[in-house]
Amino acid sequence: MISKKMQDALNEQINAELYSAYLYLSMVAYFKSINLPGFATWMRVQTQEEIVHAMKIYDYLNERGGRVILKSIDEPQTEWKSPLAAFEAAYGHEQKVTGLINGLVNLAIEEKDHAANMFLQWFVNEQVEEESNADAIVQKLKLMAEAPGGMYMLDNEMGQRVFTPPAAGGGQ
Ligand code: FEO
Repeated sequence: MISKKMQDALNEQINAELYSAYLYLSMVAYFKSINLPGFATWMRVQTQEEIVHAMKIYDYLNERGGRVILKSIDEPQTEWKSPLAAFEAAYGHEQKVTGLINGLVNLAIEEKDHAANMFLQWFVNEQVEEESNADAIVQKLKLMAEAPGGMYMLDNEMGQRVFTPPAAGGGQ
């Protein structure tokens, strides 16, 4: 059985992951509106990953005998001043999520909840990748500022991203 404190914190994280999905889905619409279909595809895959993150916690909470409580999801921003601004926002958001995950690990340690701590380690690793992916695009877009012709190629490259459904029994 999971503690009430840990349960509440994991419910908050489900909300944060669903908000991430909402934010990135809003970016999909933005990229479509400025005719960057590859960027939109990339963000759509990111949206699917966020739903996987939320569902991992949802399933875990149920497995531990906890109760999932869904809360309202904040309205995301709808416009950005450039693709770079959108990806800087995504990178900043991922850094914020990393902070939330670290906070959950701290709570698991405080609560002496070793199972939750182990479960959360997957997210600790995932956040390294999440930050690195967003930062890599920020860096490419900064280079693009000096060679705007490369935008078409970058859009093509971004469009190659595919969603890999999580393997059975966990993992992403
Ligand atoms: Fe679920 Fe992008 O962190």
